[in-house]
Amino acid sequence: MELTTNLTTFALDVDKGLSAPQKYLSSSFFYDEVGSIIFQQIMDLPEYYLTRCEAEILQSHCQSLLEVFNTKAGFDLLELGAGDGAKTTILLEHFLKQGADFSYGAIDISPSAVAGLEMDLKAKFPTLCLQMIADDYFSGLKQLQLTAKRRKVVLFMGSTVGNFKPKAAIAFLKQVRPYMNEGDLFCIGFDLKKHPKMILDAYNDSQGVTAEFNYNLLRRMNEELKADFKVEQFEHAPIYHPQNGCAESYLVSKKNQNVYIGALDKTFSFKAWEAIHTEVSYKYSLQEMEEIGKAAGFTSQTHFLDAKRYFCNAIWSV
Ligand code: AVJ
Repeated sequence: MELTTNLTTFALDVDKGLSAPQKYLSSSFFYDEVGSIIFQQIMDLPEYYLTRCEAEILQSHCQSLLEVFNTKAGFDLLELGAGDGAKTTILLEHFLKQGADFSYGAIDISPSAVAGLEMDLKAKFPTLCLQMIADDYFSGLKQLQLTAKRRKVVLFMGSTVGNFKPKAAIAFLKQVRPYMNEGDLFCIGFDLKKHPKMILDAYNDSQGVTAEFNYNLLRRMNEELKADFKVEQFEHAPIYHPQNGCAESYLVSKKNQNVYIGALDKTFSFKAWEAIHTEVSYKYSLQEMEEIGKAAGFTSQTHFLDAKRYFCNAIWSV
């Protein structure tokens, strides 16, 4: 039942995106089982500084974060897009060591990631009060909200917010707000503007892992939608725009070609060097970051940076 629904959404989205005058595919479809594994490899790449910078922030500021999050009644952590949870584990470990009274709820679109994280956390922290949900953010929030009675701290880390264009980011954050009460907090990770080459390299690694991450979208369509993309006839082509702070990825067709998608019973034609847009990853200045929070109706409390000032975790309150 669930599978059929996902397939339909995926098929409809692909149809819409590949029929557009400027072709696109939504980056949310990167994260099937294989894609989630490739993303874990991306996080280990020497060029992909984001994860290490955020881990450094969580490591060096875990006590300050606990002090900001905690209330007399404790708090409920609630993570959007938990993934493999490696960074969150840093926080959970410290909070438990300090005897903090808190629970952890995680929402992720990838069922395999959620199952893996649940196993890891149960083994590592047998006393932690856990709730794991494999669903989209809003369905997950609806389920979690019922159980949360004290301060909620919503974690939205890893620069996932960067996958929205700034206006869409504000709209998304405004949609999360109704699930929060006065005094609740948002802990949100932003990748900061820096040397354009450093940013571009993070999306154009020398081992080609990010390229594989993009090609996996084509393979996923081949498998799930019975498409016949010839992956080697497409090229991964990322760019970084230093003025609007946007890293973008494209899959470029290397020749004139037709692709048949069985699930849609439709043929799509690609001209030589025509591109499919696959992802945006926005980078912010500290000021732009504050503006996003304000525009979404949050009050900025504080923020934490790594030593190189590459990444920022902002704390906003309702
Ligand atoms: C998971 C959205 C934070 O945009 O940096 C990494 C995804 N795409 N390399 C990012 C990604 C290509 C990543 N986020």
